[in-house]
Amino acid sequence: MALVEVRNLTKVYSQGEGLFGVRPKAQNQNEVRAVDDVSLDVHAGETLGLVGESGSGKSTLGRLILRLIEPTSGTIRFEDRDLLAASRGEMRRLRRDMQIIFQDPFASLDPRYRVEDIIAEPLIVHRKGIPANSNAIRGRVVELLRAVGLDDSILRRFPHEFSGGQRQRIGIARALALRPKFIVADEPVSALDVSVGAQIVNLLAQLQREFGLTYLFISHSMPVVRYLSTRIAVMYRGKIVEIGDSEQISELPQHPYTQSLLKATPELAV
Ligand SMILES: Nc1ncnc2c1ncn2[C@@H]1O[C@H](COP(=O)(O)OP(=O)(O)OP(=O)(O)O)[C@@H](O)[C@H]1O
Ligand SMILES: [Mg+2]
Repeated sequence: MALVEVRNLTKVYSQGEGLFGVRPKAQNQNEVRAVDDVSLDVHAGETLGLVGESGSGKSTLGRLILRLIEPTSGTIRFEDRDLLAASRGEMRRLRRDMQIIFQDPFASLDPRYRVEDIIAEPLIVHRKGIPANSNAIRGRVVELLRAVGLDDSILRRFPHEFSGGQRQRIGIARALALRPKFIVADEPVSALDVSVGAQIVNLLAQLQREFGLTYLFISHSMPVVRYLSTRIAVMYRGKIVEIGDSEQISELPQHPYTQSLLKATPELAV
């Protein structure tokens, strides 16, 4: 059984009326099929890399799988449970197991809160196995900071005091707070310098081994995806055009679009 099972998932965005209120001739003229009939499995313990050019639908697919947005049609199962049929209460419990790491560490951390509060928030909201006293929560926050290579000297500081790489580590600590099983990492290194990005990629690999995490790792960069992924899915205009073992996709790409992606990107120095 796959950890995540996606079947015929589709998300259509309608752009509303045409310019000046003129109705479009064809009804679907103003529709974007951001995700178009996608089926795939994510196996427990693997990293499934999702690669494709800008606008191909990667973020939309990642968000659909976490049910951060609602699909137009299709199904998503997480540990064999139908996510779209889950009640609010069930969804709340399931959300602890599924987290997201965002691309932009400058936009994803609330500037008004201190590091300690940013990381503690999910613990306080869900209180998963943590007694509701501040010492226990602080202990867990320090543990999380250490896991991502930071230390407790930064607890009282604010996001703006940190570099992009450090902010991304704080975001990762927050995502790990509830001991999730599955993480969607949506271009987590695209906003960072190459060397800083490589450190974050290595951290993600280390955390995966340490905590048995499963990743959907989204990137437009084939070398980054290849470095981290067990398997790779190639997305083009809302569809998965090719999926397979990392080595097979990068050594023997079948689809012309995958071939062009590989040509366009140099080797990665990690
Ligand atoms: N909220 C929205 N409303 C309307 N259209 C949207 C919305 N979100 C995404 N789209 C469209 O859906 C398509 C897929 O977008 P998406 O952000 O999923 O692509 P992406 O592969 O993540 O791109 P990038 O690499 O730039 O992050 C694009 O055409 C985009 O314009
Ligand atoms: Mg995106």
